[in-house]
Amino acid sequence: MTEQHPRAARASDYPAIAAAVDDWWGRPVLGSLPRLFLDHFHRTSLIIDGPGGLLAFLVGILSPADPRQAYIHFAGVAPQARRQGLAQQLYTGFFALARADGRTMVSAVTAPVNSGSIAFHRAMGFSVTGPIAGYDGPGRDLVRFERAL
Ligand SMILES: CC(C)(COP(=O)(O)OP(=O)(O)OC[C@H]1O[C@@H](n2cnc3c(N)ncnc32)[C@H](O)[C@@H]1OP(=O)(O)O)[C@@H](O)C(=O)NCCC(=O)NCCS
Repeated sequence: MTEQHPRAARASDYPAIAAAVDDWWGRPVLGSLPRLFLDHFHRTSLIIDGPGGLLAFLVGILSPADPRQAYIHFAGVAPQARRQGLAQQLYTGFFALARADGRTMVSAVTAPVNSGSIAFHRAMGFSVTGPIAGYDGPGRDLVRFERAL
């Protein structure tokens, strides 16, 4: 079991995250994670550092539009550090900060091909809806996850 614990993200974490995500996802996903997410949402995002650098991260948002809702935009764990509970630690940490802000629901989405993400979200107690055709526009079907906090 890895002993690292989540810390608050900083805007300066962006280069390490950007350099990792296409490799960690196994497909090009960086276009969905521009710098603005760390510049403007780092206070609700979490990082786990390892001895050699970034091990895991979560980019979360407390919805500015709906005070009940929290949203997890991206979460990833280095391939060599998976199945050690790191994503679970990140989600648990985000749930706590969202609850502390009065949030009662958390949601996320993933690509239908991402069976690991779907299994992880089920294990974390999320309901799974979809794939929902055209969720993010023409040809962009997504699976939606939702959970009470
Ligand atoms: C999905 C991901 C974040 C999970 O991270 P992780 O640190 O390995 O997950 P955890 O160790 O906290 O897993 C907790 C539980 O979720 C389930 N789970 C996690 N990954 C799973 C997988 N690939 N297949 C089946 N179940 C899985 C298991 O029940 C696991 O508990 P267990 O290991 O005791 O069986 C990681 O595989 C990843 O980074 N994938 C690529 C990026 C991605 O798809 N991100 C998510 C969507 S934004």
